[in-house]
Amino acid sequence: MGLLIYLNGTFVPEEQATVSVFDHGLLYGDGVFEGIRSYNCNVFKLKEHLERLKASAKYIMLDIPLSLDELEEAVIQTLQKNQLKDAYIRLVITRGKGDLGLAPWKCPQPTVFIIADKIALYPRDFYEKGLDIVTASTRRLSSAAFSTKAKTLNYLNNIMAKIEGKNAGALEALMLSQEGYVLECTGDNIFIFNNKELITPPEHTGILKGITRDSVIELAREKGYRVA
Ligand SMILES: Cc1ncc(COP(=O)(O)O)c(C=O)c1O
Repeated sequence: MGLLIYLNGTFVPEEQATVSVFDHGLLYGDGVFEGIRSYNCNVFKLKEHLERLKASAKYIMLDIPLSLDELEEAVIQTLQKNQLKDAYIRLVITRGKGDLGLAPWKCPQPTVFIIADKIALYPRDFYEKGLDIVTASTRRLSSAAFSTKAKTLNYLNNIMAKIEGKNAGALEALMLSQEGYVLECTGDNIFIFNNKELITPPEHTGILKGITRDSVIELAREKGYRVA
């Protein structure tokens, strides 16, 4: 059986879960999203994800047509309708349907959809033995040009780095700042753990402030490790 997708307030079978070719999320990457995990029916840090979604939407001046409580309810219902315990949830809000110009004010109604599905990003082996990464020549966008704290539908910068990685025989790539400092990988924050010390690039450098990152830092501190 196919998935049921939350689309603008109703649940529809995935074949019917379509958006307009005039949707600015598609035409311009104009929108925001969250990727959220659930483990054994528990949604991991849902409130934190919704808060970040709200902050991303605020940054791009997009009014979310639902309250955070309503979004929370919609996420949980999407999981329940699909009878998923361990899932990846993709919550997306686009600027909505407009005309062929850039103008976001010509998009009266944002599009909201939620997909809950299973995901296996990497083979199991990678989690146990590690994976190779390469340093991409594609630099992360300058946060002076666009806040990297906002999780938006503009991922081409990261995708270019990912392609570079693949071409060099690695499935993940390390991205540097304009100045050449280590920032993060294409869809994940990075850490070095050595001698009971956890090191990770600071927030102000132009990383996405990952919710997993916050949890890793919290766990490291609880264990008494030094975090830098
Ligand atoms: C560029 C980037 N950095 C870091 C992360 C990790 O963020 P989180 O732990 O909140 O999923 C993501 C997740 O999508 C990402 O796209």
